[in-house]
Amino acid sequence: MSRAYAGHRIVITGAGAGIGALMAEKFAARGAEVIVTARREQAARDVSEHIRNSGGEAFPYVLDVTDIDSIPAFRDKLHAERGRITMLINNAGVVFGGEFEQLPLADHLNTFQVNTNGLVAMTHAFLPDLIQASSAWLVNIASASAFLGLPYGSSYAASKWAVVGFSESIRLEMQMREFDHVGVTTVCPSYIATGMFEGVKTPLLSPMLTPDKVVRSILKGLKRGDAFVIEPPMARSVELLKGTLPRGIWDQVARITGVSTSMYSWRGKSRK
Ligand SMILES: NC(=O)c1ccc[n+]([C@@H]2O[C@H](COP(=O)([O-])OP(=O)(O)OC[C@H]3O[C@@H](n4cnc5c(N)ncnc54)[C@H](OP(=O)(O)O)[C@@H]3O)[C@@H](O)[C@H]2O)c1
Repeated sequence: MSRAYAGHRIVITGAGAGIGALMAEKFAARGAEVIVTARREQAARDVSEHIRNSGGEAFPYVLDVTDIDSIPAFRDKLHAERGRITMLINNAGVVFGGEFEQLPLADHLNTFQVNTNGLVAMTHAFLPDLIQASSAWLVNIASASAFLGLPYGSSYAASKWAVVGFSESIRLEMQMREFDHVGVTTVCPSYIATGMFEGVKTPLLSPMLTPDKVVRSILKGLKRGDAFVIEPPMARSVELLKGTLPRGIWDQVARITGVSTSMYSWRGKSRK
């Protein structure tokens, strides 16, 4: 196994489950010290213990990214206990599916608070660490739904559109400020079998992805220095099609391929 990430200290949000936990495992296996943050203490502990038992370095921390005021305090505590970081992976996310007005407003707003505001606040707290490092990376987990409208998942899609706009802007800003050592990668996967989108009907040519496939693509993309990691390959054509086809035709394509109807049957594991 390569030690490509030896010397890196990586904070991952929402690392107590799903692809966050898997990324923690994979980066630790490649030599990184992983800061496993989760809002549930036991989840952070379990993932860290699993990594340590496999010979990796991992440290559990409780972090709820919606508690924006606690984020600078978390950073200061981490600096005091472990030191500065070289990589931030903004992974925490939630989704609430259903007919827009039938869902409580609190669920819509919570979606933005976790997926967008928490991500912006974490980046605000830790970008100085990344700028000070000799080689650093910011990885933002968005979604393939950031390229299109998602009926029955409008707030989720919107929160991820915001992540793409934010992430791309920071990437360009790092270049313009000549911080070329700070890479920024935006990850846009379609549906992944983690339970978050339990019940969805996957669109044509976009089968349910395995967490392993997505994490392998992320590792590959980082190695290449890619600005975007998009899975499956089909999802890469969405921007082009949406930008060139007349709107009504695109709407039909999205419907016929099952993109627009995929969330209709969502059950997911809703979380508060
Ligand atoms: N699954 C998909 O189909 C899919 C597709 C595209 C993009 N994504 C994105 O990929 C990322 C990871 O999702 P996943 O598929 O691995 O699903 P997941 O297993 O549900 O992981 C989401 C993680 O975020 C955590 N989280 C939720 N609210 C949080 C908060 N307030 N503070 C800190 N952590 C919080 C969850 O913690 P708890 O376990 O405590 O709830 C969980 O560990 C998300 O950003 C998601 O939007 C997922």
